[in-house]
Amino acid sequence: MAHDTQTLNKNRMPLHPEHPVWVFGYGSLIHKVDFPYLQRRPAYIEDWQRRFWQGSHDHRGTPEAPGRVLTLIPAQGQQCVGMAYQVKPEVFEHLDHREKNGYLRIETALHFVDGNQPESERGLVYIAGPDNAAYLGPASDLEIAQQIACSEGPSGPNDEYVLKLAEALRQLDTEDDHVFSIESLLVKPK
Ligand code: SIN
Repeated sequence: MAHDTQTLNKNRMPLHPEHPVWVFGYGSLIHKVDFPYLQRRPAYIEDWQRRFWQGSHDHRGTPEAPGRVLTLIPAQGQQCVGMAYQVKPEVFEHLDHREKNGYLRIETALHFVDGNQPESERGLVYIAGPDNAAYLGPASDLEIAQQIACSEGPSGPNDEYVLKLAEALRQLDTEDDHVFSIESLLVKPK
C-alpha cells in the first residue's frame, strides 16, 4: 500500500454530499481540532486499543527519521475512549489529507459516554493497519519513548503529541496504560 491513502479513502468509501458523518478520534484528533464540527461528544469504540506503532513521516517526523504516532490494534473486550465529532462530509477533504500517511477510514459503532441520546451511532475511525508502508509495529515502551523523544516533524516535536494526548485523556477521565507508560519514559536527548 502507498503511503498516501487519500485517494484510497475517497474511492473505498464515497460519502453522501449532504449527510453529516460521525468521526471518532483517539489520538491527535481528540485535542487538535483544526476542523469545523456540528457537535462533539465523548465516546468509546469496542475491541480496539491504542498503540504507538504507526510511523509519522509527515507530522511528527520526517521520511529520513520517522516519529511514532498512534494507531489502533484489535483487542477483544477493550474499550477505547476518545472524542466523536459530527462533521459535514466536505470536512473529510481536510481529515483525509491530515491522516494520509497510511490511515484508512473504517466504519464502526460509537458509544457515547455523556448520558445523552442517542446512546450510539455508526461512524468512521482512521486506522493504520500493519500493511501500510509507514507502519513500524511493536517495540518496547522504552524504545518507543526514545524514538519519540528525538523525533520532530512539520507539526512539531513528537513528544508534544504524547504529552498533549495524555493530558486530553486525563480530562476525559480515562486511563491508558500504554500512553501513560510512554509519557513517563519520555526523556529529551541532551
Ligand atoms: C486519531 O486521532 O483518531 C487518529 C490518529 C492521529 O491523528 O493521531
